[in-house]
Parts: sequence; structure tokens; C-alpha cells
Amino acid sequence: MKFLTLLSCATIAVAKNILLTNDDGWAATNIRATYYALKNAGHDVLLVAPVSQRSGWSGKFDVPYTSTLLTNGEFDYKVAGDPIFGHEADDDHIWYFNGTPASSMSLGIDYIIPKYFPELNNSIDLVVAGPNEGTNQGGFFSISGTIGATYNSVYRGLPAIAFSGSNGNNSFFKDSLDDDPQNPSNIYANLTVEIVNQLFAAQGDNERALPLGVGLNVNYPPVGNIADNGCVTPDLVYSRLSGLDSPAMKVKVNETTGIPLTVEVDTAALAACLNGICDLPSESEVITRACAASISAFSVDYDANAQLQTGVRDLLAPIIISNKD
Ligand SMILES: *[C@@H]1O[C@H](CO)[C@@H](O)[C@H](O)[C@H]1NC(C)=O
Ligand SMILES: *[C@@H]1O[C@H](CO)[C@@H](O)[C@H](O)[C@H]1NC(C)=O
Ligand SMILES: *[C@@H]1O[C@H](CO)[C@@H](O)[C@H](O)[C@H]1NC(C)=O
Ligand SMILES: *[C@@H]1O[C@H](CO)[C@@H](O)[C@H](O)[C@H]1NC(C)=O
Repeated sequence: MKFLTLLSCATIAVAKNILLTNDDGWAATNIRATYYALKNAGHDVLLVAPVSQRSGWSGKFDVPYTSTLLTNGEFDYKVAGDPIFGHEADDDHIWYFNGTPASSMSLGIDYIIPKYFPELNNSIDLVVAGPNEGTNQGGFFSISGTIGATYNSVYRGLPAIAFSGSNGNNSFFKDSLDDDPQNPSNIYANLTVEIVNQLFAAQGDNERALPLGVGLNVNYPPVGNIADNGCVTPDLVYSRLSGLDSPAMKVKVNETTGIPLTVEVDTAALAACLNGICDLPSESEVITRACAASISAFSVDYDANAQLQTGVRDLLAPIIISNKD
């Protein structure tokens, strides 16, 4: 296993074009660490991410209606009155946008690239989203902004991967970006490079790194200085997006204060296996293991499988026009 890993890393010769985004903002430590790690691995990386915290904005496609910021960005890194998009003074590959993860990805491929990097036009090989501050498993698929940027990328025909880490602290790169090998942001960045490079190695001369309409969702466990078990190189476990213990959200109202809270709830619907390989462990189960990361393949063909579709069509038969094949 170790040998294979080394071999696949050693065979990476091709530099690829990567668009990097997230939902915790362009100034978050995780995305900056990942930017430098992907770049150091030889890839051409364009970072375009929200100027403010957009966790939980799912796939919402939001664009500003002004040309300047009305409020300060996350960590006051960009302030009211600044343009709604722009790049770091010392690096024209690191951009912010007053948008959501999904619209930031689009600003990158539909505006920034054609206008400023025409050589990258229609040449993005992979969209990387994250690593998110906090894991995103099971029912978080429809909630997470990190995953929202990913399925919007897959909609656009781009191979894309959502990465989420167990370091939930919302940290500013100017406070937290360092070269400490125990810093989870650095460990996640290197794991991300390893996964991305494996896909590119497997791609070979093929046109795409992943099939059309397919993306990946990856969750990292506590590692380095946030792990109490010394975890640094987690086992990468191929998993199902849904399945056992997959959480959905529910509202719980505090009767004393009258204030609602969001709580997680496991549901039978999310545990059901309707598509895919039912024997695979759920990512929710994998991330409870001691030192394991989950990697799940999803598709944006959200149709129910053929058997379910047929059954539902029968339920509706009296009121729909006949299109039986
Ligand atoms: C970029 O590609 C689009 C088609 O996807 C094309 O319409 C546009 O002219 C291209 N722009 C540049 C600068 O190459
Ligand atoms: C969280 O991030 C803040 C800001 O970057 C930092 O000052 C703080 O030490 C971090 N907390 C933890 C528990 O890592
Ligand atoms: C990440 O990879 C780089 C390049 O191989 C290496 O120099 C660095 O020490 C690694 N960092 C961690 C935290 O593993
Ligand atoms: C409801 O809110 C009160 C006041 O903040 C708190 O003491 C109590 O623990 C809460 N109850 C529940 C069930 O969360």
C-alpha cells in the first residue's frame, strides 16, 4: 500500500489546472494551506472564494447587487467600500468575491479566467472545494456550501471534489497559517494533494479525471494537534454518501426561552440504500473510526432508480399521460 502510494506520487509529471473554492471564505487557513500545497505540487491553481463566511449556504447561487462591499468581509479582511471582487495584492491567483461558494466558482470560470487568464479558458481539470471547517456527511449534502460549490461545478461538467475537515475552528490564515507539521490545515492540504494527484495519475490520457456528472465528497478526521490518538495519515475508506447514521437536521424549540435550536437527527430515509453499492460503509460511520477519512462518489442524476421510478409512475398512472416504454 505504502509502495503504491509512493509510486503514484512519483509518476505525477503533469501539471493540471485547478479551481479552488470553499464556503468559509478566501481568508480561511484551510483553503490557503491547500492553495500552497497544490501549487507546490506543480499545479496551476486559481483560488476564487467568498469574501465572507458562507457556511450552510448550500448550492444557493447568490450575486451582489452593488459594485462595492456594503459590509466588511470575514476577519475584516476587505472592508465596506472595497470592490466586490479582487485579488491579493501580491498574488493575482487568489481572489475573493461577495458571492456564495457556487457563484464564486462561476465567477472564476466564467469571468476571471476568460478575462485575466484566457489560457485557462475551458481548461480547468478539477474544482476543489474546501477543506471545510467541520465535516459534511450524509444529509449535509443539501446544506453544505462546500458541497454546493461542488455539485454546481459538476452541473457545469467539471470534475469536482468537496473536502471537509474536523478542524471546525474558523481561523484566519494570518493568525494560523504556519509550517507546523501538526497543524491540521497542513495535514489536510497534503492529503488533498495526494487524493487529487491519484485521480490525475489514474486519468492518464483520458479527457476527464471523473465521469461526467460525478463528483466526490471527502471527510477528514481529527489529525495532528487536534487528534488525541496521534492520527496523521488516516486510512482512506471508500464509502457511501448516505447510509447508517447519516444525519438530517431538525428544529428543537427551547420551551424556556422560546428560541429554536438546530439539532441533528438520524433518519430511516437517509439510511436506506436506493442507489450505489449497499455494502459500502456510510461516511457517517467512517468518520467515527479512530483515524479514517471517507471518500464517496455522488452523481447529479438525482432521479430515483428505475424500479422506484416505475413504482411511482404506477401510483400516478390515472392522472399522467402514458409514456410506458
Ligand atoms: C472562453 O470560452 C467560451 C466558451 O466556453 C467562449 O465563448 C469565450 O469566447 C472564451 N473566451 C476566451 C477569452 O477565450
Ligand atoms: C481559532 O482561530 C482563531 C483565529 O484564527 C485563533 O486565534 C484561535 O487560537 C483558534 N482556536 C483554536 C482552538 O484553535
Ligand atoms: C506536506 O508536504 C510537503 C511537500 O512534500 C512537506 O514539505 C511538508 O512537510 C508536508 N506537511 C505535512 C504537515 O505533512
Ligand atoms: C433552554 O434555555 C435555558 C436558558 O438558556 C437553558 O438553561 C436550558 O438548558 C435550555 N434547555 C434545553 C433543553 O436546551
